[in-house]
Amino acid sequence: MKFFVDTADTAEIRDLAETGLLDGVTTNPSLIHKAGRDFLEVVREIAGIVPGPVSAEVVALDHKEMLREAEILRRIADNIAVKVPLTVDGLKTCKALSGEGTMVNVTLCFSANQALLAAKAGATFISPFVGRHDDTGFDGMQIISEIRTIYDNYDFATQILVASVRHPVHVLQSAMIGADVMTAPPAVIRQLFRHPLTDRGIEAFLADWGKTGQSI
Ligand code: E4P
Repeated sequence: MKFFVDTADTAEIRDLAETGLLDGVTTNPSLIHKAGRDFLEVVREIAGIVPGPVSAEVVALDHKEMLREAEILRRIADNIAVKVPLTVDGLKTCKALSGEGTMVNVTLCFSANQALLAAKAGATFISPFVGRHDDTGFDGMQIISEIRTIYDNYDFATQILVASVRHPVHVLQSAMIGADVMTAPPAVIRQLFRHPLTDRGIEAFLADWGKTGQSI
């Protein structure tokens, strides 16, 4: 499963990229607002940090205007994936862009039927938002299983990009289901490295090593 980080904070992206475990980046208008930087400038910088896909989202709601914005975004770098919302106009735009070889991430997906439509529109990535679905009292991961089944049934090449990941269990379940990608905030990715028994084990080994009086 590929790991994308869901942020526009370039310091965090650089730091995580150094682990060699980062496969891409996702942004959205709220994350751009949080970063407090010029949209095109920050996306250009991110695209230079990671070689993998960097999602940059259009904000227009009609097809024609989405295409205009997409043109600006995709020109930033070869690794830009244009992010469009799961609407009729968004999928029209997805179809047009993917037909021209541009990577497209269809976002704000909340049902397996929506994911089916995105795959038929040629999406490179479909982003089902599991955390926001959980928030409304449903099981977000159930949708990931359904999408996996549908995409496998018809050999769709669209990659399932699990989004709105809130905690390590979402990551674990995504991998168990066979999602292609998950995108999580930096803090959640950092949590994946940690286990109290690892810390305790290191502490005990170092204490015993100290008692040997040796060095390497
Ligand atoms: C995905 O591409 C979105 O940017 C993101 O995962 C949304 O997550 P949130 O529900 O935590 O805002």
